Amino acid sequence: MKKFNQISMPEKDEHKNTKEYKKLSPKMKKALNDQVGLEGLASNSYLAMASWCEVTGYKGAADYFYAQSDEERTHMIKIVHFLNDMGNAATIPAIKAPTASYKSLEGLIKTALKNEQTVTTAIHKMVEITQKEKDHSTYAFLEWFVNEQVQEETKFETLLQKFDLIGRDKIAINEIDKILAVEAATPEPTA
Ligand code: FEO
Repeated sequence: MKKFNQISMPEKDEHKNTKEYKKLSPKMKKALNDQVGLEGLASNSYLAMASWCEVTGYKGAADYFYAQSDEERTHMIKIVHFLNDMGNAATIPAIKAPTASYKSLEGLIKTALKNEQTVTTAIHKMVEITQKEKDHSTYAFLEWFVNEQVQEETKFETLLQKFDLIGRDKIAINEIDKILAVEAATPEPTA
């Protein structure tokens, strides 16, 4: 039995006792750690898209997707910080290789939209967990991601509309690439 004057040494998880009051449920912790992986996958996926655009000659699209890749990395890091701040050290997962080649710029953007929809579903599931568990801290944290996903999906939907509006021939694709170059050069508001 422990004596009162005995100095207790940190056990396996040093964060465990210091931030106990903010502890996440195992379900929430797992969902957030999984999201670290999903944001990392999004970052890698956009990096692969940027690289494909670069070698295919779509300079504007390449710049655009390099920037998207950076943005997704910041999302991943946001969640890592949150987990750590909550006293639940983040687990950095292995990230599977993304698709490396695409049939067209339009196909690539369709894949980007699909990826974002997958992320949105995951974020919404986490929000549902916070509501069930009355986890107000994580709920407030996730609010930013809910809004961000609306913007990201809208961004890719709008880009896909350009193919219907401008066309799919070489001149049209070149125009769309120029639009992407302008988008890439326009800084997004940071959070
Ligand atoms: Fe961070 Fe666009 O998912």
